[in-house]
Amino acid sequence: MSMNICCIGAGYVGGPTMAMIAFKNPDVRVTVVDINEERINQWNSDTLPIFEPGLDEIVKEVRGKNLFFSTEVDERIQDSDIIFVSVNTPTKTYGVGHGFAADLQYVERCARRIGELATGDTVVVEKSTVPVCTAESVRKILESYPHKANFQVLSNPEFLAEGTAVQDLLNPDRVLIGGEPSPEGDKAVQKLADVYASWVPKEKIITTNLWSSELSKLAANAFLAQRISSINTISALCEQTGADVDEVAEAIGLDTRIGPKFLKSSVGFGGSCFQKDILNLVYLCESFGLHEVAQYWHQVVIMNDYQKERFGQRIVKALFDTVSDKKIAVLGFAFKKDTNDTRESPAIDICKDLLAEHASLAIHDPRVSQEQLLKDLEMENGTADQISLHDDPYEAAKGAHAIALLTDWDSFKDLDYSKIYESMAKPAFFFDGRNLLDLEELRKIGFEAFGIGKGTKKKVAVS
Ligand SMILES: NC(=O)c1ccc[n+]([C@@H]2O[C@H](COP(=O)([O-])OP(=O)(O)OC[C@H]3O[C@@H](n4cnc5c(N)ncnc54)[C@H](O)[C@@H]3O)[C@@H](O)[C@H]2O)c1
Repeated sequence: MSMNICCIGAGYVGGPTMAMIAFKNPDVRVTVVDINEERINQWNSDTLPIFEPGLDEIVKEVRGKNLFFSTEVDERIQDSDIIFVSVNTPTKTYGVGHGFAADLQYVERCARRIGELATGDTVVVEKSTVPVCTAESVRKILESYPHKANFQVLSNPEFLAEGTAVQDLLNPDRVLIGGEPSPEGDKAVQKLADVYASWVPKEKIITTNLWSSELSKLAANAFLAQRISSINTISALCEQTGADVDEVAEAIGLDTRIGPKFLKSSVGFGGSCFQKDILNLVYLCESFGLHEVAQYWHQVVIMNDYQKERFGQRIVKALFDTVSDKKIAVLGFAFKKDTNDTRESPAIDICKDLLAEHASLAIHDPRVSQEQLLKDLEMENGTADQISLHDDPYEAAKGAHAIALLTDWDSFKDLDYSKIYESMAKPAFFFDGRNLLDLEELRKIGFEAFGIGKGTKKKVAVS
């Protein structure tokens, strides 16, 4: 093998990213290490811990050849040329900056372990999303240990989106590498760029200074989330005026300066990154005294919370102002289709709001485990008896007063909604939180059907 690569953190990023690197670099030995033994066991089993279309095939192709999953964190730190740090960086829940700043304790722990154990020339790559200047802290920590190794710290943020991770990794819009502007820094950047160059065209591998690279990741997520909140503000207005948000999105998206992507109105964004990265950006701005800039970005998250709340309230209002003891079937719980990830899923907040209104929920998601679902809905006063979980969507809908569609799974397009309608209490309501279905078709079946940003007032006729 020409090189040893190790990645600390076998999560949604570490697993797929390293699988792709191993797949495209058969002469490089790649080991993904984690302290979570159960997760490593799952990576080594037939049922991988994360669901991503196309991932199983790639992992099975290279696992045991040049891709390994292991709990031997220390050993792999010792013998690796490149060490990726891909651990979680959640929002701090304590102390200074809680609720906004990124919690860097896991990154720091890795840096200390690497400082203590690494030998020879070692390139340490920040794959985790981190605040600007974290690489500097990592470098200081590494250099505080008696020198057994020569370290170079690089920033290489990951831009993959869950649900399309394999495609995004195969064909990235860009690979971003930030490094120190020095001959040693350039050499390290080149070493990492060569790994990607096995399959990524050279012009898509861009290099910047460390801080630009770190900030670009936060800024990219802020811009993406901002588009969702922006179209969601318009959805609220559409509902009041009789306009249709999908029509508005199409019309504005055809402007090449705006573009059509990420203009789909919904119950709101979710996932482990958008909210935490924006809050992190808000915290950074505040800490530099940029209050107006901080407020601007904070509003993107506030709007997202508003969108989720609005959806829950709309359900209650439509169901004659009470959902107490009414059964509501929830279709979809993952934060988007094609993933089993529920982190910050809008479904969590919406379900909690409905449970607080004493609704009973019958939940179906094609990929989220029942264990995960119950964990996400854990409430202080215990609401277990208000929740039932179903592998079969038809069972979930039986006897329900309403359906709330919360994830855009393709399989929901093919359900027999006439059969579902027949089995429900009447009047039967349908709340499509993803604008996935044709509301007119649902209305023809008999449903009282609502979408996001679909005005119900009579449209103004053009004479
Ligand atoms: N999930 C995404 O779509 C996505 C996309 C781009 C970037 N990111 C960023 O990538 C990073 C990782 O995200 P993720 O979704 O893969 O997280 P994750 O929670 O799925 O995985 C992180 C893993 O790191 C392990 N870990 C933590 N501390 C460790 C230590 N000291 N030693 C060994 N293992 C340790 C945990 O056990 C966990 O399995 C985050 O900073 C995130 O913001 C995520």
